[in-house]
Amino acid sequence: MDKIVSLAKRRGFVFPSSEIYGGLGSSYDYGHYGVLLKNNVRDAWWKAMLQERDDILALDSAIIQHPRTWEASGHLAGFTDPLVDCRTCKLRFREDHIAQSACGRKPSKHPGETPDCDLTAARDFNLMFQTTIGAVQEEGSTVYLRPETAQGIFLNFKNYLQFGRKKPPFGIAQIGKSFRNEITTGNFIFRMREFEQMEMEFFVPPDEAERWFEHWLEQRVNWWTGLGLRPDHLRLRPHDPDELSHYSRATSDVEYLFPIGWSELEGIANRGNFDLTQHAQFSGQKLEYVDTATGERYIPYVIEPAAGVDRAMLAFMVDAYDEDEIGGEPRTVLRLHPALAPVKVAVLPLVRKDGQPELAREVYLELSDRMQAEYDEGGAIGRRYRRQDEIGTPWAVTVDHQSLEDRTVTVRDRDSLAQERVAIGELADLLERRLRGDWRSPKLV
Ligand code: GAP
Repeated sequence: MDKIVSLAKRRGFVFPSSEIYGGLGSSYDYGHYGVLLKNNVRDAWWKAMLQERDDILALDSAIIQHPRTWEASGHLAGFTDPLVDCRTCKLRFREDHIAQSACGRKPSKHPGETPDCDLTAARDFNLMFQTTIGAVQEEGSTVYLRPETAQGIFLNFKNYLQFGRKKPPFGIAQIGKSFRNEITTGNFIFRMREFEQMEMEFFVPPDEAERWFEHWLEQRVNWWTGLGLRPDHLRLRPHDPDELSHYSRATSDVEYLFPIGWSELEGIANRGNFDLTQHAQFSGQKLEYVDTATGERYIPYVIEPAAGVDRAMLAFMVDAYDEDEIGGEPRTVLRLHPALAPVKVAVLPLVRKDGQPELAREVYLELSDRMQAEYDEGGAIGRRYRRQDEIGTPWAVTVDHQSLEDRTVTVRDRDSLAQERVAIGELADLLERRLRGDWRSPKLV
């Protein structure tokens, strides 16, 4: 994990937030390459949800919803973690994470393990961030930052029945920020207080729920492996009955083997009709599907794949991270799937003279029209290659003296290190074809 954190900062993917003020617990800012990678993760998710199927519609709902939302959803009463305080070191811990937490005075021990530890009994701590709406802080002005994007989907279910002309099974998908006042933080962008979710609520006839649950388990695992995650680092783990959230009839987590061990990357749940029933009751509105032809009416069940964008970024970076040697020199490389790579191609003049920069700039401008490209003329060519390897750029195009004679360039492959000569006129098509082609992690044995 330390290597990923250091690379992420060094190469401008992720910075600790508010760093000049000493940082703010578990908040991170995404730098240039982090933004590009994050956009690619979101694009890949939207592609799988919207472009490649015609039974899902998109939504972007408000972060602050009517406060009754959270009463109905059960978050106000039940979205809590058991909190334990240490009267000696003044730190707070999640009771169920004590075995993974370090004592404030003796980090080699767990809280409660030294004679000085003085832990309180556990009490429930609600994870929702609270704020007030309007100029006056008065009764009824308390609102919450959403702890999941899902509820915005349920609140809009009726709108989608009306405008979307869909009947179950159909889904509504949303990507957006969620907020949780997590007690146990750390582990870089794995657990944050402000994070992004990609959630899709799939509304189905109740008797089809199990079949769709299985469908989404398979689809989601395929999505992760299709973007390069090694299958032996990915597994599905069904929740035990006592682990299920208050709304869930069945949940399986897609877990990834992070450096901190097997941990949740995405949760896939059968939420039954819990949410629509609750919101119908609290709002007084009918939230059911009525088949006008047959008169059949029912409250759909919901299958929900819910993934974190930040955890996805971490998993993709961890999975892609590699070290090897070129000519006896150590190299760090991110072997990212080309679709995820922040920059697809770097254009590099071999030397900064003899017309090479001008031609390289021309090649760059042509490529940047078709894909995210980067032009770099500063420093030795080997160092420029290394820099691109570290940010995961799959191809580097070099303009050299021959390029000026015959308008060809060399294309260097990040993974195989093969170099081939290609005509400038054919370059963009070739790279676009490769970008769309199949890709397999070279780390797979
Ligand atoms: N609507 C269901 C739901 O929110 P969840 O398992 O609590 O389920 C879904 O969250 C996903 O959101 C998780 O699998 C994880 O990827 C991400 N996530 C949850 N809490 C997070 C946090 N504090 N920091 C980063 N990502 C988080």
